[in-house]
Amino acid sequence: MALELENKIAIITGAGGGIGSATARRFAQEGASLILVDRDEGPLRAIADEIGGDARALDLRDETAIDALVDSVVADHGRIDVVVNIAGVFVGSEGRVEDSTRKTWDLTLDVNLRASTHLTARALPHLAASGSGAVVMTSSTQARAADEAWASYGVAKAGVEALTRYVATQYGPQGVRCNCVAPGVTATPRALERFPEDRATAVRNNTPLRRFGRPEELADAYLFLASARSSFITGQVLPVDGGMLVHLPS
Ligand SMILES: NC(=O)c1ccc[n+]([C@@H]2O[C@H](COP(=O)([O-])OP(=O)(O)OC[C@H]3O[C@@H](n4cnc5c(N)ncnc54)[C@H](O)[C@@H]3O)[C@@H](O)[C@H]2O)c1
Repeated sequence: MALELENKIAIITGAGGGIGSATARRFAQEGASLILVDRDEGPLRAIADEIGGDARALDLRDETAIDALVDSVVADHGRIDVVVNIAGVFVGSEGRVEDSTRKTWDLTLDVNLRASTHLTARALPHLAASGSGAVVMTSSTQARAADEAWASYGVAKAGVEALTRYVATQYGPQGVRCNCVAPGVTATPRALERFPEDRATAVRNNTPLRRFGRPEELADAYLFLASARSSFITGQVLPVDGGMLVHLPS
């Protein structure tokens, strides 16, 4: 059977993290040539050693570093077919709106929204030249449903969903598709830190499938939206959340 991403040059950010590393593994199985990006060099090196791929350690808040990344990927690999923006931050200590600081808003917006915007913008001419360019963004259930805290995160992720529609609208005529995965609670080490057992139980009880997602299940959604399997889908947000947001409280 043909591989879904054979000969595709794909950049994945957050590749050292839970969902990012699972997605990198899945893309590698499907034949992609990967450029793996993360700020944390240790986990980045570990996934690159495991699956192969071109590891680039950088802080995505640095726009100059993003410019240099795109230039060097094109110089080294000849083109860019896919960009998957998974890197993200969540400031657990943020609190309610009145307690949220400028520092928290800046960090959350810079990593979750501005970095995705800038990397996508710089890659767009190359994605248009690819003939099958695809961008996949990452939002969250918190973009659509508010929580007791973490407004900056929800606002940043809602911005990512809007950005998805803008990129799809403006670059669809050049053959570039842009979609977004909206994970629900996914069992990555960093997410599990935020869910003490009482909160975890409450979330599971409010999820129709009664469990957290697995990073591999998210990886399949990124693969679908990056590959020709979704060739007539653009501007969409795909929730991968066990149905968390489809029902009334009960
Ligand atoms: N796990 C969940 O429950 C969940 C739910 C909803 C949305 N999400 C989103 O999914 C994505 C991945 O989540 P995860 O659980 O795998 O988190 P994670 O913390 O394991 O992975 C995020 C990665 O992004 C990297 N990163 C953070 N800031 C960076 C920066 N400035 N420059 C470069 N890299 C940076 C981190 O080093 C980390 O490897 C995030 O965007 C997150 O907001 C996760």
